[in-house]
Amino acid sequence: MDLQGLNLAIVGATGAVGQETLRLIEARCPGHTNLKLLASKRSAGRTLDVNGKTFTVAETTDDSFDDVDIVFISARTEDSRRFGPAAAAAGAMVIDDSSAFRMAPSVPLVVPEVNGADLDWHDGIVSIPNCSTTPLVMAAHPLRQASPIRRIVADTYQSVSGAGGAAMNELRDQTRTIMHGGPAEPEAQPQQIAFNVIPQIDSFNESGYTREEQKMIEESRKILHEPGLAVSATCVRVPVFVSHCVAAHLEFDAPVSAGEARELLSQMPGLVVHDDPTASAYPMPVDAAGRDAVFVGRIRKDASHPNGLAMWIVTDNLVKGAALNALQIADAAVARGAVHGKQS
Ligand SMILES: NC(=O)c1ccc[n+]([C@@H]2O[C@H](COP(=O)([O-])OP(=O)(O)OC[C@H]3O[C@@H](n4cnc5c(N)ncnc54)[C@H](OP(=O)(O)O)[C@@H]3O)[C@@H](O)[C@H]2O)c1
Repeated sequence: MDLQGLNLAIVGATGAVGQETLRLIEARCPGHTNLKLLASKRSAGRTLDVNGKTFTVAETTDDSFDDVDIVFISARTEDSRRFGPAAAAAGAMVIDDSSAFRMAPSVPLVVPEVNGADLDWHDGIVSIPNCSTTPLVMAAHPLRQASPIRRIVADTYQSVSGAGGAAMNELRDQTRTIMHGGPAEPEAQPQQIAFNVIPQIDSFNESGYTREEQKMIEESRKILHEPGLAVSATCVRVPVFVSHCVAAHLEFDAPVSAGEARELLSQMPGLVVHDDPTASAYPMPVDAAGRDAVFVGRIRKDASHPNGLAMWIVTDNLVKGAALNALQIADAAVARGAVHGKQS
């Protein structure tokens, strides 16, 4: 990864995605220590070690971004809204993990393997998609070589780390409490998550979909450059710590065989086909956790439609679903000469 020599800032360095970002910087940019670690006032003064150097976390302010080339923001949406424009105006390229800017027409929403060329028109801020949208578009994109996609139905099984560090702690503590006969007392999740599944991620809108589902619908269309694509989603939280799964049903203009799909998917950079029903081989969260790839298995003709395919997609939501995608955007921007802040 070619980020050497660039000054990087991470807003939300103490959070679930921020911590994964630091781990990936150590793995992919050994020796890189031009880092500014930022979080809220609560974490100011805390120390974190990266690439053999000890950094003191500072409180994020509008003035945090002088002399910074790229700012990764992995904090709350309202923090992105405040600090994103401030960082871009200070001359930094902002790569934002939140939903704050994803659907803004002036902000590219990027998965480099799918629409890296969209980086050429950013004006200081680039967004990464929701952590379930990324694996879905990674699997859908190569299949368009076989036939245009007419419709996608995607049902997710999303881990608690998708809701941040507090939700991970809640699953751990709640499991222990319930095992000892205690009450669930949900705080970070809307319902009990231990020994349960919750068909609600984020709040409901008037259509009956949740905001998480609406994000998958709108973001997939934007990344695939298919504004009219029919998409439906049901997003479900499951008691798994890391990795999101998607059961996806895709309908094409013309029939696409499972063999053809397997072939196209196996040529897609960043995607691994793991699909051998005879050996009960398919992707699972425990295997995907900590790994870079999007894994696809259970590829088969959809029995309910002659032009349909069904498949099962799994990825680590903190890695390709967040931190890795953001670092890959930075890397691609360097390669394209597209690292800059707000130009107008
Ligand atoms: N988790 C995922 O799988 C995933 C995937 C894709 C996108 N995202 C997005 O990434 C962002 C971070 O998610 P997360 O899961 O890492 O959440 P998290 O574990 O709750 O971490 C939140 C981070 O934001 C920081 N923060 C809170 N208030 C702040 C403020 N006023 N100024 C600066 N920093 C502040 C926190 O710092 P303190 O420690 O000081 O409180 C912490 O470092 C969210 O926008 C989320 O939607 C997450």
